[in-house]
Amino acid sequence: MSRTIIVVGSSQGIGLEIVRQFAADSANKVWALSRFHQGTGKLDEFQNVYCRKVDVSKPDITAQMQSVLEEAGTVDILINNAGYLVNKPFENLTYQDILTSYQTNIIGIMLLTQEVVKKAAENGLHIVNISSMGGFQGTMKFPGLAAYSSSKAALCNFTELFAEEYKATNIKMNCLCLGAVQTEMLEQAFPGYIAPTRPAEMANYIVDFSKNGAAFFNGKILPVSISTP
Ligand SMILES: NC(=O)c1ccc[n+]([C@@H]2O[C@H](COP(=O)([O-])OP(=O)(O)OC[C@H]3O[C@@H](n4cnc5c(N)ncnc54)[C@H](OP(=O)(O)O)[C@@H]3O)[C@@H](O)[C@H]2O)c1
Repeated sequence: MSRTIIVVGSSQGIGLEIVRQFAADSANKVWALSRFHQGTGKLDEFQNVYCRKVDVSKPDITAQMQSVLEEAGTVDILINNAGYLVNKPFENLTYQDILTSYQTNIIGIMLLTQEVVKKAAENGLHIVNISSMGGFQGTMKFPGLAAYSSSKAALCNFTELFAEEYKATNIKMNCLCLGAVQTEMLEQAFPGYIAPTRPAEMANYIVDFSKNGAAFFNGKILPVSISTP
């Protein structure tokens, strides 16, 4: 089955692996959006990957997304994987720290999703938001992550609200709250911690869920973690 997939936040870590795994099926067209793809060569081996420069945190995210969608056409799967993490004691957080966290982790995601729903494939669109266990209600919380985890919690809440508003359509949205995965972001949040999960393993789960999960879940906030953090 041929699908058009957009992965937002795809130059490294889990997002890069998600793109690679979707691209392994040559029937798929994969749009890999990030700020810093250019010249990395990480995805050069794939003829069916289209890397485009998109900065989710910028106020013109709507226009950026419109120009991607003009090329991409209709969309079957959107994975909102971009994330920004600042690790600082609460009292040291600046206005810009909090603003960039919210712009990247929720505001930009909401605005770009507005554009993608207008281009939903006739057979349906599954939107998968990538949140964190830190944004999941009632989980253990960690110092230094107030801006990051609260903005990820907003992404969880948005998922429920979106699904309610679109429940009569074939556009579905779910949210995966990830536990620790060995990436640069994890090292920033928990220096020296060794995670039990590698990016390719988590990507494998996310790819499978994005293809099959919409038949079983809508508006759900699902923990995907075997560790704390
Ligand atoms: N690793 C973990 O343990 C863990 C745990 C819980 C949740 N998560 C979540 O999983 C997702 C992937 O995390 P990761 O660990 O793979 O992080 P990562 O290695 O830091 O990768 C983050 C990705 O987001 C992109 N990104 C950041 N700011 C962006 C912006 N303004 N516009 C567009 N893209 C942007 C980055 O690309 P550019 O820099 O090229 O733009 C990069 O490709 C994130 O949403 C993160 O919050 C991760």
